[in-house]
Amino acid sequence: MTESFVTEPGPADLHAWHVLRPLLDWRPYLPFSSGSMRVSGLVHLCNTIVHSEPAEVVECGAGVSTIVLARLLAERGTGRITALEHDARWAEVVGRQIAAESLARVSRVIHAPLDDGWYDDDGVAGLPDAIDLLIVDGPPADSAELALARRPALDRLASRLGPGAVVVLDDIGRAGEQAVLAQWEETTDWSFERMPEEAIAVGRRPR
Ligand SMILES: C[S@@+](CC[C@H](N)C(=O)[O-])C[C@H]1O[C@@H](n2cnc3c(N)ncnc32)[C@H](O)[C@@H]1O
Repeated sequence: MTESFVTEPGPADLHAWHVLRPLLDWRPYLPFSSGSMRVSGLVHLCNTIVHSEPAEVVECGAGVSTIVLARLLAERGTGRITALEHDARWAEVVGRQIAAESLARVSRVIHAPLDDGWYDDDGVAGLPDAIDLLIVDGPPADSAELALARRPALDRLASRLGPGAVVVLDDIGRAGEQAVLAQWEETTDWSFERMPEEAIAVGRRPR
């Protein structure tokens, strides 16, 4: 049975737009879309970066989240983000934005086509060996056939997740992501805090 979660943006998102203003005002336009991470979830990630200072952030599924987090990392002068992106055209769009904003020092996009439903080995090989913060917002999982598309992330990247690593899964309002979380918790020692308003779950391993 799936849990009932908030799926539409709410007051937390209105607040989040204000909180994010320093990272959005007077900077180049970002093409937010319905595929973009909810802004309240993005604020949670920004706060995690400020509080935990992850050296290596990896994001499955590039987008405006990659750029916003890169802006924050550049501003703070510590840490970098690497995004895996299956779609060549979108990887190029995000890569161009990174270049236009001179964010290449702290961010990059790896184009990794899907192979049997997940990012190909060549793309994964380009990721940092030790990941401190993993954001799972891809591959696309917005149809019944693709509902479990994000499940491989924890297993495929397990060897790169250190003892203090944090894993964030987006879109937990959907039945597919709830099933992914349940399977991760059943089959690994990770446990996840569900944050319905932000539509994310934040996972840690017992130390
Ligand atoms: C859930 S989205 C990832 C969104 C990204 N993490 C963000 O919050 O901006 C999954 C996929 O949708 C595609 N996508 C995301 N944003 C898009 C946009 N604004 N326009 C076109 N495609 C987009 C990309 O292929 C991406 O990997």
